[in-house]
Amino acid sequence: MKDTFFITTAIPYMNASAHIGHAYEMVLTDILARYHRAQGKQVFFLTGTDEHGAKIVRTATKAGKSPQAFVDEYAGEFRALWDRFQISYDDFIRTSDKERHWKGAQALWEKLVAAGDLTKGIYKGLYCVGCEAFVTEKELVDGKCQYHNVPPEEVEEENYFFDLARYAPQIREAIDRGELAIIPEGKKAEVFEMLTNATQDVSFSRPEGDIPWGVPVPGDPSQMMYVWCDALANYLSAPGYGTDEARFGRVWPPDVQVVGKDIARFHAVIWPAMLLAAGLALPKTLLVHGFITSGGKKMSKSIGNVIDPVEYLDAYGVEAVRFYFAREIPSTEDGDFTKEKFIASYNGNLSNGVGNLVSRTVKMATQYFEGDVARTPETDVPVRTAAGTMSGAEKREGWTIPYLIEHEILPAYHKAMEALEVHRGTEAALRLAALLDEYIADHEPFKLVKTDPEKTKIILANVLYGITHVARMMQPIIPETAGKIFATIGAKDDTLTHFSVTALDAPLYPRHDA
Ligand code: ME8
Ligand code: MG
Repeated sequence: MKDTFFITTAIPYMNASAHIGHAYEMVLTDILARYHRAQGKQVFFLTGTDEHGAKIVRTATKAGKSPQAFVDEYAGEFRALWDRFQISYDDFIRTSDKERHWKGAQALWEKLVAAGDLTKGIYKGLYCVGCEAFVTEKELVDGKCQYHNVPPEEVEEENYFFDLARYAPQIREAIDRGELAIIPEGKKAEVFEMLTNATQDVSFSRPEGDIPWGVPVPGDPSQMMYVWCDALANYLSAPGYGTDEARFGRVWPPDVQVVGKDIARFHAVIWPAMLLAAGLALPKTLLVHGFITSGGKKMSKSIGNVIDPVEYLDAYGVEAVRFYFAREIPSTEDGDFTKEKFIASYNGNLSNGVGNLVSRTVKMATQYFEGDVARTPETDVPVRTAAGTMSGAEKREGWTIPYLIEHEILPAYHKAMEALEVHRGTEAALRLAALLDEYIADHEPFKLVKTDPEKTKIILANVLYGITHVARMMQPIIPETAGKIFATIGAKDDTLTHFSVTALDAPLYPRHDA
């Protein structure tokens, strides 16, 4: 029986170095995985590498390397980068892995054969190597692929064809009933259109003579699996399809599959059709994220607006980049990444925002009370209203900080995170930090300490209580700093009433100049 929250990323092609879009998808998925772990769930976070296909063979040949040596290098490079990004994946599947992946992919193939959905025929048409996809005239712009801006190649070859059309109505129903949720909602119409157009069988294999690098079709050595059929099967092979049925049963189906908008069609049409043909449950949710642009434009070497993830990691550290992705790139839309925006967001939200709130609170608690503060529910100090500056003060008349968090902040946070809207979840955490700043501004503990130290203590303990919640909410995004905050604040018990605060030896987020 399924007992695991299963979340996946797309598996990038191993024919070039990782770019900022790859890093974004990985961090977005990692944040969701960490969030669900924090809710006490058993999580299986899967990622990996797509290592077959014509594109990889050609690039390897150009580089004078064997395909295997070539993909080994890139796979190593990607993994090293994911380590630097603190990606907490539970499994990493490589499609060249004969033991784990090939067996699963071939088991799936055999199911499709048994269902009567694969038949051999001649394919005569166009192929875009960039997409690794067969394309129709209709999809071209000026005779070129709209994604890769190159004319597709004409091919005429023997292929196995998959009867996609047979499953289109069932997929449509599953989406209609919400069994397969497409996020964002707005993508649904696009998917329905793709389903309507899915009237032709799709090629599912290529002649071995043309593409010798791939997963062999079981029982027919003259054919290799089409790279998308092979790649999509990673989601099955990694949790144990065809090799470890017990494990597979505990994990299947995926709860969330995260993919970019350019490959939504493979994941919303071909992939569910393959699963239905194999008699397998469909994923519950497909999260289609947008693309990262720079200065409002697609990144390109010729424009000179390519953002290199490694450069940002080196200069600003992993948490600054993770935070930018979480806060500034809406998880369901395109988002922009420029140096100016990056610095402004970092300074505004992390240096001046969370970082400054923590450091001034810690300073007050250690200077006034040697770090020993507690709040008492009987004599709590509510958020101030009439004379106060706290935004929305009227609504919050008489509210205490714990009440505010329980009734306003946490519901907004969890609602957003459950809806996979990481940017809104992040906003909820930042809003609490801003409200705590206002609470300090209203009550002026730095003045009050002279006349009423007891009340000052309670106020500071309330702020520390709030900061602990900010850190908890942001832990999936900035795990290291969250850990530092917990260690500095030292809550003495689960109710967060008594704190033992130690001084910070350095600011959490030093300011950066542009
Ligand atoms: O498509 N911004 O691999 P891939 C955000 N191997 N995301 C981006 C992006 C950008 N600028 N550019 C690409 C493949 N991506 C296949 C996947 S899955 C069974 C096989 C995203 O290396 C892209 O949308 O071209 C995809 O989700 C991921 O990066 C890998 O892209
Ligand atoms: Mg791509």
